[in-house]
Amino acid sequence: MSGQTIIVVGAGAAALSFAAAMPPSFEVMVMTKESVYDSNSTLAQGGIASSKLPHDSTFAHAEDTLYAGCGHNHIETVNGAIEDGHRLVEELIDQNFPFDADEDGKLRLGKEGAHSVNRILHAGGDATGRMLIRHLIGRLGSHVVLKEHETAVDLWIENDRCAGVWTKDSRGNVSLRKADYIVLAAGGCGNLFQMHTNNRSVTSDGLSLAYRAGAELTDLEFVQFHPTLLVKNGRAHGLVSEAVRGEGAILIDENDRRVMEEIHPLKDLAPRDIVSRAIHEKLAAGTRVFLDIRNIRDFRMRFPTISSLCEKAGVLIEDGRLPVSPGMHFLMGGVSVNKWGETSVPNLFVIGEAACTGFHGANRLASNSLLECLVFGKRAAERIQKRKKPAFLSGKASDPEDMTFDVPLVNMKAIQKKMTDHVSIVRTADELLKVKNWLEQMPVQKLNVKEITKEELNLAHLWQTAKLMTASALLRTESRGGHFRSDYPSIDDENWKGKQIIHSKGSIKVRENEGIVNYAEAQA
Ligand code: SIN
Repeated sequence: MSGQTIIVVGAGAAALSFAAAMPPSFEVMVMTKESVYDSNSTLAQGGIASSKLPHDSTFAHAEDTLYAGCGHNHIETVNGAIEDGHRLVEELIDQNFPFDADEDGKLRLGKEGAHSVNRILHAGGDATGRMLIRHLIGRLGSHVVLKEHETAVDLWIENDRCAGVWTKDSRGNVSLRKADYIVLAAGGCGNLFQMHTNNRSVTSDGLSLAYRAGAELTDLEFVQFHPTLLVKNGRAHGLVSEAVRGEGAILIDENDRRVMEEIHPLKDLAPRDIVSRAIHEKLAAGTRVFLDIRNIRDFRMRFPTISSLCEKAGVLIEDGRLPVSPGMHFLMGGVSVNKWGETSVPNLFVIGEAACTGFHGANRLASNSLLECLVFGKRAAERIQKRKKPAFLSGKASDPEDMTFDVPLVNMKAIQKKMTDHVSIVRTADELLKVKNWLEQMPVQKLNVKEITKEELNLAHLWQTAKLMTASALLRTESRGGHFRSDYPSIDDENWKGKQIIHSKGSIKVRENEGIVNYAEAQA
């Protein structure tokens, strides 16, 4: 028996794929501050990208990933993740995961933005994430405990290594849960913006906890805005999957003119940053934008989740035009990790959206995120199994009353408004600088672990991430993927190729990463 203990913070696809891969000789606790179904993975409509057609290949999938990623992907990570992902998709098929198939059992492969062929596997039409979470929960052994409604408040660092988590339950009881390894899988930071596709609980906890513990964070300027959120009366009502455009829907303005006509050769299926900017410009010019779904047959059957979102929002599918707007969807950056999910803090792993693996580059290719969750969840599990049990720590835990958080004296809505107005799809130095100063000079109150509420903690995490993201966006004087500066509107390979902006322990620096290649180099 290994007798080792692991705490996983978060309960999305990365967390559960990790937990499902750990053998019974380990005690695993999967902890989430909400319910096990509150995650971005549960909301994932798209699917899992995997080359399955005879004329498709790992190479073609990698090429599309690199093209979308705008010369900022780590080439070995891309190839390795796609190859491992291929095997894991086969495993899911062997486990009878219900990928959508025709009556004769042939898998139905969809297409999404920037994919050169149909290679997206989905389940339940547009409910892949929800079905994957259910499937993974069903595969957990009795050595895995699911602890819902318990919040990870801070990491416990002892002798320079991560050795536990301070937590708070729904009654306010604070505990120190010691463990041999901590795996953060707490998602991205969608709630930094007014319109987003994320679960309401996704407040960059993983990034912020790791940063407090001394880990390096990188690529935070690369934020993916999904082009098509369903909007009604100025509010977002959820995602309209890119798979809808993959089935033939087109973007039109109020006058029925095609939005993407002369913008990109892939038109409505161009990379997301390009489509989002085109829609953003139309909206800024005062016209509304719609997704014309009139040529999709059996829309309700193919897209049950989106049909139900439309019904709830009071949008009539029969009208054939869904009102849409871009919104925050995914953070390409995160805690810097190696191919196993290891961070710069010993015994601290980060997987899923909270991590920056180099797979997505400056802009993630559609349906590569559940794939990344499966691959890195499994790899982190394999790595830990090969490690020796860490030495026993006799250290005395600090008093929770001595551990404090700076909580800004504004509400979340004020931060969301500033980030949406000035740090989103189009950025400039002037506006970034104003927001940076506003965030940094904000009055704060100091609250200790016992006093702080869940809402105050969420706010502290988001504020911390907003500061780092804004500083990165100001420093990168070029436009690339999910980072567009109208004052530096082109890719600047001469000054920025292969460079990453790193935050650690209060400092910011630029570092070269030799593994990063651009599309042309990968083809050569
Ligand atoms: C979508 O369905 O459009 C989103 C899928 C993804 O983000 O990968």
